[in-house]
Amino acid sequence: MIQPPQLRIPGPTPVPERVQRAMAAPMINHRGPEFRALLPELEAGLRWAFQTENDMLIFPASGTGGLESAVANVVSPGERVLAVTIGAFGDRFADLAEAFGAEVARLTLPWGEAADPEDLDALLGREADIATVLITHNETSTGVTNPLRSLAEVVKRHNRLLVVDGVSSIGSIDLPVDRWGVDVAITASQKGWMLPPGVTMLSVSKAAWERQAKARSPRFYFDWDRARKMQAKGMTFTTPAVSILFGLREALLMMREEGLPAIFQRHLRVAAAFRAAAGALGLRLLASSPEVASPTVTAVYFPDALTGEKSEAVFKTWREHGLVVGEGQGKLSGKIFRIGHLGAVYEPDVVATVEVLERGLEAHGHPVTRGAALSAARRALQSSEPSLVA
Ligand SMILES: Cc1ncc(COP(=O)(O)O)c(C=O)c1O
Repeated sequence: MIQPPQLRIPGPTPVPERVQRAMAAPMINHRGPEFRALLPELEAGLRWAFQTENDMLIFPASGTGGLESAVANVVSPGERVLAVTIGAFGDRFADLAEAFGAEVARLTLPWGEAADPEDLDALLGREADIATVLITHNETSTGVTNPLRSLAEVVKRHNRLLVVDGVSSIGSIDLPVDRWGVDVAITASQKGWMLPPGVTMLSVSKAAWERQAKARSPRFYFDWDRARKMQAKGMTFTTPAVSILFGLREALLMMREEGLPAIFQRHLRVAAAFRAAAGALGLRLLASSPEVASPTVTAVYFPDALTGEKSEAVFKTWREHGLVVGEGQGKLSGKIFRIGHLGAVYEPDVVATVEVLERGLEAHGHPVTRGAALSAARRALQSSEPSLVA
């Protein structure tokens, strides 16, 4: 392939040239003055993107490492935890808490649906001993975004600690950490941040620090207290992912140039366009309604005639045309495809992706009206009046 493929998986996402160039800078001493200057700049940039005054911690790890750090620092063995799970990553968060010895209650939704704040309210009303609530903001496996503002309101009303997996949302979907009272918010570099995988970033509230001081789970690599003390000295405990952090500085500059509201609106517009294109191709979305459909990943059912092994042939054709989209996870394997559109994905990318999606489906016998999906996408890009998911 002469050109790099269109990477439309929900992470890793495309890395803009500006960011690539920044990452190619010569290595520095991670205990020297350059790094001591870089780290506070990154912390400030992340605080801006997370919309918080809370402490920011940065670890060399993927998103799961960030989630594990949260469990290891705020949950104690034997403690009751509620995991709100609407898909594979919600299940993972629950499993992780179980692995640390927590007694995990699960509020599980059918895949494609979002959690209902009233159900959460009733559950927390019944279960006074649940100290911590784990919620996935944007469920990447199903392309569904939880109504986090309302869910957070419920958790705060019941005075529980709120830990949010914002791996595929923060920086792409509005998540005002302080306004919504999120105690721990976690993300990862390979998502909306336009960076390679390898860095997890999280915010920690005062209440989470108080819990951290008392929590008894074993922790070493991810010990938040030591991380905070080291970061206060302009260093990290272990060797940081220096090149990715060079990239983060540039990515944050790009994000500041565009502005958070514009970034969130772009994601909503692009998502609306992909949903419109799917509809025009005669395909059904996994998300139970447009209101809960994710601004960063669109999960689409294959037509009945193209499921299972046939779906593999369709993926192959798309790849041959330079398009890489995500496959279904777990029980959705062979049934859906997922279009990732977070980070550096802009309006012209929608057009290029839809063209190949249409061609690939047609090549495998799916009836399409040539150009209908493109027109639908273009109309959605021009006319949609995105509003923020809440
Ligand atoms: C919502 C969500 N949570 C957690 C993860 C796990 O992140 P990682 O694969 O970086 O460990 C992902 C990754 O796709 C995700 O999308």
